[in-house]
Amino acid sequence: MRMTVIGTGYLGATHAACMAELGHEVLGVDVDDNKISRLTNGEVPFYEPGLPEVLDRNIDAGRLDFTTDYARAAEFATVHFIGVGTPQQRGSYAADTRFVEAVIDDLVPLLEGDHLILGKSTVPVGTAAALQERADKLARLGASVEIAWNPEFLREGYAVKDTIEPDRIVLGTRAGESRAEAIAREVYATPLSSGTPFVVTDLQTAELVKVSANAFLATKISFINAVSEVCELVGADVTQLADAIGYDDRIGRKFLGAGLGFGGGCLPKDIRAFMARAGELGADQALTFLREVDAINMRRRQRVIDLAREELGSLIGRRVTVLGAAFKPNSDDVRDSPALAVAGQLSLAGADVRVFDPEAMENARRVFPTLDYAESLDDALADAELVILATEWQEFWDMDPVAVAQLVSGQLLIDGRNVLDHSAWRAAGWTVRALGRGV
Ligand SMILES: NC(=O)c1ccc[n+]([C@@H]2O[C@H](COP(=O)([O-])OP(=O)(O)OC[C@H]3O[C@@H](n4cnc5c(N)ncnc54)[C@H](O)[C@@H]3O)[C@@H](O)[C@H]2O)c1
Repeated sequence: MRMTVIGTGYLGATHAACMAELGHEVLGVDVDDNKISRLTNGEVPFYEPGLPEVLDRNIDAGRLDFTTDYARAAEFATVHFIGVGTPQQRGSYAADTRFVEAVIDDLVPLLEGDHLILGKSTVPVGTAAALQERADKLARLGASVEIAWNPEFLREGYAVKDTIEPDRIVLGTRAGESRAEAIAREVYATPLSSGTPFVVTDLQTAELVKVSANAFLATKISFINAVSEVCELVGADVTQLADAIGYDDRIGRKFLGAGLGFGGGCLPKDIRAFMARAGELGADQALTFLREVDAINMRRRQRVIDLAREELGSLIGRRVTVLGAAFKPNSDDVRDSPALAVAGQLSLAGADVRVFDPEAMENARRVFPTLDYAESLDDALADAELVILATEWQEFWDMDPVAVAQLVSGQLLIDGRNVLDHSAWRAAGWTVRALGRGV
């Protein structure tokens, strides 16, 4: 099949390359010239394991190309995916849907014949129906445009696998006559043939599935972090507690990693947008608990600063190394990153902060140019008085506490992700502090 993918960021570039990998002919479209020229040359503009190989292979096979030209997109295919951003609005919790609207405004007047637009961006409930009305007004005489919603659940770091072998496919279609299911069955023929669950529903349910999934995951993380606050007061160990409750398969151990909490380009903005939309719909009380989920999450960042102060006293001029800048390992995404927030707050408190991340240095520098960025892990650790593990990259898990002790000037560690073997670090002479665990 031929298709376009409009918006080639983390979601769209991955979707475009993976649809080509499934055998389709794909044209990726973006308004960012620089991104499009890099993708055209086979360069992924962000870090995603496995994606460069998929991109290269499919460009070479002639199944994948990129453009900034909407007229070319309109001619290229009759199936179009939307993967543009839906960030938090400035000064409000609500999602900014201007970019998805712009795609409709720019694409639909150019279309001839019958087209299907499948939205993948995460949007407030009601957006797809509003876009259908917008498209109907803009469509040329004789052309028809159907809007359907096909939310995306990929995880950065596992995006290729999650796109090619998703754990479910959700499709929301409009009431009445619709071609969306038949077309989606063709697009996703490969994963569907291997038994991937396929939920076909109405537009509003599909939109709500995505934000509900993210709200649930955020709630689970904040649940364990709330318990972690209590553990700290009584000297209990939140990691053992999580293991013990996680053995109950109704609860499960995943997403019960107590620590610095969630960040990134999805969970924080999605729970805020969900609250905002519920409020607009008159159901604001239904989701007020998400405000607490957000607040618990933000308090964890402050708790790391408090631990640093407890150990060092004044932070002014103290040499602190923050390991990690990405919001999670295996990604270079620093949007709403807990690690960078901690580094930034320490710096504002007067500490001399040095940051190291295996992949996110360039993005971090752009967002926080005033921090000091190390050349390597060893360079980051050299002469540190306090080391904070803020993103759990494998390279940091693998650190040898004896070797690291030779580099630093103070053997003080805050494990912000509860991943290191604290007894080994203590045995090597380190003072170890962590979230939700006794001293
Ligand atoms: N990143 C993820 O892991 C992930 C997972 C699931 C869902 N989502 C959702 O997918 C959407 C995109 O997220 P992302 O992380 O890929 O964002 P992103 O910022 O990386 O990418 C968005 C892209 O859209 C482009 N764009 C903006 N306006 C455009 C226009 N009018 N025409 C063409 N391109 C345009 C931008 O230049 C950018 O390249 C969001 O709604 C997000 O919530 C993201």
